[in-house]
Amino acid sequence: MNAAVTLATLRRMKTEQSPIVAITAYDYSFARLVDAAGVDVVLVGDSLGMVMQGHGSTVPVTLSDMAYHTRCVARGLERAYLMVDLPFLSDTDDHTALRSAARLMKEGGADMVKIEAHAAQAPVVEALSHAGVPVCAHFGLRPQRVGQLGGYRVQGRDEAGARQVLEDARALEAAGADILLVECLSAAVAAQVREQTTLPLIGIGAGVDCDGQILVLQDMLGVTPGQPPRFSHDFLADTGSAQSAVEAYVEAVRTRDFPRREHTFE
Ligand code: KIV
Repeated sequence: MNAAVTLATLRRMKTEQSPIVAITAYDYSFARLVDAAGVDVVLVGDSLGMVMQGHGSTVPVTLSDMAYHTRCVARGLERAYLMVDLPFLSDTDDHTALRSAARLMKEGGADMVKIEAHAAQAPVVEALSHAGVPVCAHFGLRPQRVGQLGGYRVQGRDEAGARQVLEDARALEAAGADILLVECLSAAVAAQVREQTTLPLIGIGAGVDCDGQILVLQDMLGVTPGQPPRFSHDFLADTGSAQSAVEAYVEAVRTRDFPRREHTFE
C-alpha cells in the first residue's frame, strides 16, 4: 500500500505535472473499491442528493446527510485524501461555515471541505483557512446556485463570464484556498485559471488543461438515470466490472487520455 495522500502530495503532483485522479463516493463499499483502484482524492459530494437520495438538485442535502455519508466513506479509505462538500446554506457566514466544517472533520473524518464560492465569499474561505481548515474552492458552475441560474450551463463562454471566473480564482487563492475545482467551464478559461494561479486545479467538464480530473462515480459507471453528462464517460461499458472501470478511469486520467475533445466545452 502506498503512503496516504496529503495536501503536500497533491501540491507535489501539480509541481511534477502528475495528473491528480479524483472521484466521488458516498458509502463504505465503493470507498474501498475506489481507494484500491488508486484514486488520489475521494469527494463525498453533495451530488449524493441526486445520485443517492433521488432529489432533482443538491439543494435539499443537509449537513447531517453529509456527516453520515462522510463517516461511511472514511471507514473505507486507507490511502485517498477525503474531501467533503459543505452543503447548501451551511457556509453562509464565517461562524456557520466553521461550525459546519468542524462537524464534517471531527464527526465525519474529512481531511478537507469543499465550498462552492465566488469572489464575494472569499472572507468565508479566509475564516476557514485561518482556523486551520483545508479548503477546496469550487467555482465555474456552482450547482447549489441552480435556483438562481435557472439550469446547469457551461460557464465562462463570453468575455464577462470568463473575466468573472478569473477574478473568482484569484480572490479564492488569495483568501487561502488550498485547491481549486472548476465545473462545466470553457476549456480555454480553465487553462487560463491554471496559468494565473498556483494551486492544484481539478476539473470536471473543464478540459484537459487542469492538474487533475474528477467524475461522479455513478456517471462514470453509467448508472445515473437519464441522459449522461457530456463531460463524463461510461468506463463500466468498456471494462465489465466496477473495479476495472475505476482502474481504467485512473489510468486514463494519469495518461491524459481522459477527458477527450468530445468531453470538453469550447
Ligand atoms: O457534488 C459533487 O459531486 C461535486 C462534483 C461534481 C465535483 O461537487
